[in-house]
Amino acid sequence: MTEAKTKPAKRLLMARPDFFRIDYEINPWMDIKNPVEPDLAGQQWAAIKQIYDDLGWAVELIDPDPDWPDIVFTANGGLVIGEKALVANFRHPDRRGETALFADWFRSRGLDTSQARYNFEGEGDALIWNGLILAGYPWRSDAAAHPGLARLFDREVLSLQLADARFYHLDTCLTPVDNQTVAAYKPAFTTEAWNRLKDRVPNLIEAPAADADAYGLNALSDGQNIVLAAEAKGLAELYRSRGLTVWPTPISEFKKSGGGVKCLTLELHPDY
Ligand code: ARG
Repeated sequence: MTEAKTKPAKRLLMARPDFFRIDYEINPWMDIKNPVEPDLAGQQWAAIKQIYDDLGWAVELIDPDPDWPDIVFTANGGLVIGEKALVANFRHPDRRGETALFADWFRSRGLDTSQARYNFEGEGDALIWNGLILAGYPWRSDAAAHPGLARLFDREVLSLQLADARFYHLDTCLTPVDNQTVAAYKPAFTTEAWNRLKDRVPNLIEAPAADADAYGLNALSDGQNIVLAAEAKGLAELYRSRGLTVWPTPISEFKKSGGGVKCLTLELHPDY
């Protein structure tokens, strides 16, 4: 196979952190008295993008906007599978202005774009694993949005109730690692949700608390490579022992906003 014909393993959407700052507090990690260091945020963001470039994952960019500092967390903009995009309907007014910006971007790429009726924060609460949509609620997204997700994308949705406000999006407490494997932080789920996962996932890895606190589950994997927060040393070791190549990267500035590697990245999933 020639290189030119090789399709990138992933297509991703990111937004430069040019206007990223803590202007409001909508999750337990945000504290307006604990401001972001803009230069460091810029370096950390660039390092993540560099890893994606090195892995040959194709990164597209949406323009950041001075009025909407959290647009840097593109994962929350919607869910994109194949030609369809479902645009987020944000829980908090502080982020609602991002909706039109993401909708315009999806439409500019020719995607068949619709708007979520219930609260739904995109890939923050909707992760594709093994063809299923793993969907988190209730902090930011409503369970009522799940039937619509299943219909629109024509795939099964596994609804997972979250139980700890610090892990308010599913992607803060769960990583799809490969088709057999998911890593997750058990205390962030209701017992019922954890049992649902256990029933479906052949290898369900229980992440240590320290790694979950370090936002190590807010990670992106292609089944061979995994990009995750540098402080999540326990998870990194565990993945290495399973034969994965680990790409650790610092995220301190984004964590001040309750975000990490995955939050900074929306996957433009192929329809498989
Ligand atoms: N400050 C943002 C918020 O509270 C962080 C979003 C993190 N994104 C994610 N996919 N978990 O909405």
